[in-house]
Amino acid sequence: MDLFEYQARDLFAKHDVPVLAGEVIDTPEAARAATERLGGKSVVKAQVKVGGRGKAGGVKLAATPDEAVARATDILGMDIKGHTVHKVMIAETAPEIVEEYYVSYLLDRTNRTFLAMASVQGGVEIEVVAEENPEALAKVPVDANEGVSIEKAREIVAQAKFPADVAEQVAEILVTLWDTFIKEDALLVEVNPLAKVASGKVIALDGKVSLDENAEFRQPDHAALEDKDSANPLEAAAKAKNLNYVKLDGEVGIIGNGAGLVMSTLDVVAYAGENHGGVKPANFLDIGGGASAAVMANGLEIILGDPDVKSVFVNVFGGITACDEVANGIVQALQLLADKGEEVTKPLVVRLDGNNAELGRKILSDANHPLVQRVDTMDGAADKAAELAAAK
Ligand SMILES: Nc1ncnc2c1ncn2[C@@H]1O[C@H](COP(=O)(O)OP(=O)(O)OP(=O)(O)O)[C@@H](O)[C@H]1O
Ligand SMILES: [Mg+2]
Repeated sequence: MDLFEYQARDLFAKHDVPVLAGEVIDTPEAARAATERLGGKSVVKAQVKVGGRGKAGGVKLAATPDEAVARATDILGMDIKGHTVHKVMIAETAPEIVEEYYVSYLLDRTNRTFLAMASVQGGVEIEVVAEENPEALAKVPVDANEGVSIEKAREIVAQAKFPADVAEQVAEILVTLWDTFIKEDALLVEVNPLAKVASGKVIALDGKVSLDENAEFRQPDHAALEDKDSANPLEAAAKAKNLNYVKLDGEVGIIGNGAGLVMSTLDVVAYAGENHGGVKPANFLDIGGGASAAVMANGLEIILGDPDVKSVFVNVFGGITACDEVANGIVQALQLLADKGEEVTKPLVVRLDGNNAELGRKILSDANHPLVQRVDTMDGAADKAAELAAAK
């Protein structure tokens, strides 16, 4: 889960990374009082989860509370690379910035370790530095068990060639930033710019944090950081039911077991759809290995609740969970929905293969549900589901 800058700022503050004061607001008029609280001037910063806000006109200085209201009026509602600005942060103005640096920690999946990155050429897009001037970006692996001690932090600082006058300050910040990274179960923490101001103090002026959703169970505070306003309602409902669901923009609802199978189902349906007026998959939904009747019912309920869905393709490959259990799951799921008064009106195409496929198919045939059709190959089933969606 990616956070907004103001949320990253709050987490930094919690772990003693030096930041400036700031508050988030969602109406222009609120910029006035917020700016007054900061002593009469502020920086008005668009809160969107996309980079390059400054260049797009989403970061503006305001010399007076009136100006802050005017800048907030300009920025709220602005579109930045397809993201509408619903909130702005009214931030304290940094005293004269003399240098801008870059520091981050991230999970380096390729090398199965954590990675520290640091550069004295911050402020600009770090991808550009990495491309045009790779030696200016230090990359230092961090052992997960050892973490970043002050000694390790000094090593990172030395590799990135920070000036001597800020070296120790930056090392201390790197230790607090590591604390943020580990204690918050983040996959990325990034500060750009980490700014040196006229007094010689170093401050995090902009932050990016991405949290590991797999650690939610031990991070009860993180649920509050979710951006409920822009979440898709179907995705939110699926999340509440613990389903791995992503809304897409097509017409064929998809349910499968296992992320890889569901991904390839999306491809096969998109391909088959080309022969049926260009229909496409309406979602990604992986009901996982267990695929009990209850999970199947939850999945079907979400998909059938999507007004864009015209047909549903249930694609199951029986592994540890055998096809007969899955078939019973489908039959019971339809019964569960009927009992809840949720009438199923969209056709379902079911393909069962793998462990106990024959038995599973027989269970579906015997149930003889009027809306359920069995097709025993993946390509055939995809074609049928696309055809039914196109016919609606
Ligand atoms: N509180 C502040 N006081 C003074 N100047 C600031 C402040 N915040 C940001 N700036 C200046 O504005 C520039 C852009 O700000 P920031 O890094 O927050 O946005 P951005 O880099 O454009 O956005 P993104 O990181 O999303 O690409 C900074 O490099 C810094 O020079
Ligand atoms: Mg930035």
